[in-house]
Amino acid sequence: MATLLDGKKLSQKIISQLKEDIQKLKKLPPGLAVILVGDNPASKIYVSKKEKTAKELGMYSEVHRLPRAASEKEILSLIQFLNESPKIHGILVQMPLPPHIQTQFILNAVSPHKDVDGFHPFNLGRLMMGDPLFIPCTPQGIMELLKEYHIDVAGKKAVVVGRSLIVGKPMAHLLLSQNATVTICHSKTKNLEEECQTADILIAAIGQPHFIKNSFVKKGAVVVDVGMNRLKDKIVGDVDFDTVQEKVSYITPVPGGIGPMTIAMLLKNTYKAFLNTAL
Ligand code: GUN
Repeated sequence: MATLLDGKKLSQKIISQLKEDIQKLKKLPPGLAVILVGDNPASKIYVSKKEKTAKELGMYSEVHRLPRAASEKEILSLIQFLNESPKIHGILVQMPLPPHIQTQFILNAVSPHKDVDGFHPFNLGRLMMGDPLFIPCTPQGIMELLKEYHIDVAGKKAVVVGRSLIVGKPMAHLLLSQNATVTICHSKTKNLEEECQTADILIAAIGQPHFIKNSFVKKGAVVVDVGMNRLKDKIVGDVDFDTVQEKVSYITPVPGGIGPMTIAMLLKNTYKAFLNTAL
């Protein structure tokens, strides 16, 4: 039976450390602004979780909920305002944005020094150069979780399934920066199952429930499940947990794996942005 990579437990440890650090501050608290456009049900849940945790930590937090029909111009002027606000150290624009908005314009407008999601080209470029400032939260959370369990990626074969800006691409760069041999797979990959079978470390960020089956994994592999899919009344991952866990050495549960780590990294990045401005 596999060992569970307990993201919930580690995220709580990180959050209580941050809480202690923030309580010691004498000045205005770190401030996080979240922009949510439209009413995507999953995004609404993620944003409330981020807001709730930021408040628990003693951070200042504001959520700007804009209607689905909001224009690019409106979003850009809000970002401009937040870029200049001394109360705000971190800005996050919840993805996905409605289809009439050009996501890249919006991400480019966030000040790279307040870009706690790490999606600005400046931050993605620095990550690629091996000198990161802000690292996207989900891949950063995965690396912290692997480190907590003393899983060394150097020299290992890592396969990342999914090539999104939020997870797949930054994940591949982080693994590479720690000397893993990395393959990125996606919807056009031939022999996807065979590629996955070569992985010592398999990162599933596909967005399809139970996509990775027992036959996809190598015996003793480490499996990280980034998926959060609603199946009837349950949230399930991209990995068919019950059958895969019999074969592998470590696996993340869903929920309680990568989800809470993402939130912990967002707050860690916000605290870092705050410390950087205080210097
Ligand atoms: N949508 C899904 N994950 C994320 C994330 O980490 N950040 C933002 N901004 N949107 C997301």
